[in-house]
Amino acid sequence: MTSPHPKFNIAPSILSADFARLGDEVKDVIAAGADWIHFDVMDNHYVPNLTFGPMICQALKPHAKTPAGVAVPIDVHLMISPVDNLAAAFADAGADYISFHPDASAHVHRSIQAITNKGVKAGLVFNPAEPLDVLNWTIDEIDLILIMSVNPGFGGQSFIDSALRKVEQARKLIEASGRNIRLEVDGGIKPDNIRRVADAGADTFVAGSAIFGKPDYKAVIDQMRVALA
Ligand code: DX5
Ligand code: ZN
Repeated sequence: MTSPHPKFNIAPSILSADFARLGDEVKDVIAAGADWIHFDVMDNHYVPNLTFGPMICQALKPHAKTPAGVAVPIDVHLMISPVDNLAAAFADAGADYISFHPDASAHVHRSIQAITNKGVKAGLVFNPAEPLDVLNWTIDEIDLILIMSVNPGFGGQSFIDSALRKVEQARKLIEASGRNIRLEVDGGIKPDNIRRVADAGADTFVAGSAIFGKPDYKAVIDQMRVALA
């Protein structure tokens, strides 16, 4: 499961894909150069929208590989409350990373364990108005920090600039921890702002509408790589 682009990962969000052709969309966006597949789980409770569950993840798992057969990580972003039972179900469904919002769990440390006990990498997600304080007590347990640059629930929203300051803060915490933690940003990312997000310290970039909203996925991903180079 090594990425061909270990420094910067581009993680297309299938929230903006054609749901009637999800398997082909996953294959196509991987052929276009996606490093991870970002899988947005919404429950109409924590967020005012409803998407897909572990059965869809399991159905997509065999499609999440490069044309050469190399597995591409499935990056599950849980926008659900409570967290633990479904997190475990996504681990069984083949997720490689499972992230949740700490404000959606009554027991954050226990929810992390629900994921890592399954041998899956765990992440914490921070909404635009949510501080990073919980990392003081959890950073040694996680593999991913996901900074929201829009309010969760919908694709196609505009990037919120204050997320850049939070990315800078998170990068400092990761450096101080000495751990190998991915720093991902989600929402409103496009070829023309991805560089600013990288300069703030991010290494993994979710993009939904920017990629799936265009006919040529490879052209958009290539533009992103040029901006990052
Ligand atoms: C929003 C989701 C995002 C969404 C991003 O709640 O977490 O992953 O798909 O969509 P864009 O890239 O269109 O902002
Ligand atoms: Zn997401």
